Amino acid sequence: MNSMTDYPVLTIDGPSGSGKGTIAQLMAKELGWHYLDSGAIYRVLAQAAIKHHIEFDDELALAELASELKVVFTIEDDQLIVRLEDEDVSTLIRSEQAGNAASKVAVLPTVRAALLQRQRDFCQSPGLVTDGRDMGTVIFPHAVYKVFLSASAEERAQRRYKQLKEKGIESNLSDLIIEISERDVRDSQRTAAPLRPADDALLLDSTTMGIDAVFERVRAHCSDEL
Ligand code: DC
Repeated sequence: MNSMTDYPVLTIDGPSGSGKGTIAQLMAKELGWHYLDSGAIYRVLAQAAIKHHIEFDDELALAELASELKVVFTIEDDQLIVRLEDEDVSTLIRSEQAGNAASKVAVLPTVRAALLQRQRDFCQSPGLVTDGRDMGTVIFPHAVYKVFLSASAEERAQRRYKQLKEKGIESNLSDLIIEISERDVRDSQRTAAPLRPADDALLLDSTTMGIDAVFERVRAHCSDEL
């Protein structure tokens, strides 16, 4: 159990494209626990900033926006639906541009502080699975189960390239590798809650592992709950 919450938490942190979102959703289903996609909150915040014409370096205005952010998450037909001010932004926030914008607002310490309690409030009975960058280090440091999922930038870019191709979207693999590497640098070198594994996290490099193999490893890690 967690001293900050009364319910068990599984945190899955890692860089963009590591597969943490897929694994977290599968584990939430397997355990019958709630699910928090913390990256979606930063993505929605960046979207709200664009909508309200707030610059990404206006820390005060962004922190205020973050504390009042009207975002609602629901699971509908096994899909995470995200609404910003009653508008369905589920598809809009998944683009590469939205991810990069999220990474930019996420460097600001007061923005992160404004979103802290909102994330902890997701921890409800019977438990929570969450994915992000600082779930195991900052938001739920007392989580019982922690995983840090990584993969090489090349492999993550390949996966993204394949996903985009399946959706009929043309992209350039070398550009994707550069974008992913730039985001890694921004997320892991910022001073506020940088991307890094918690000391007590299970480290998994999925570069040469399929999704089923990763799922089995994470499932085994939480076997006491199953
Ligand atoms: O996990 P994601 O790709 O949806 O996250 C988008 C960006 O949001 C990521 O590049 C950095 C930021 N983020 C963060 O700083 N902390 C989190 N816990 C989750 C995401």
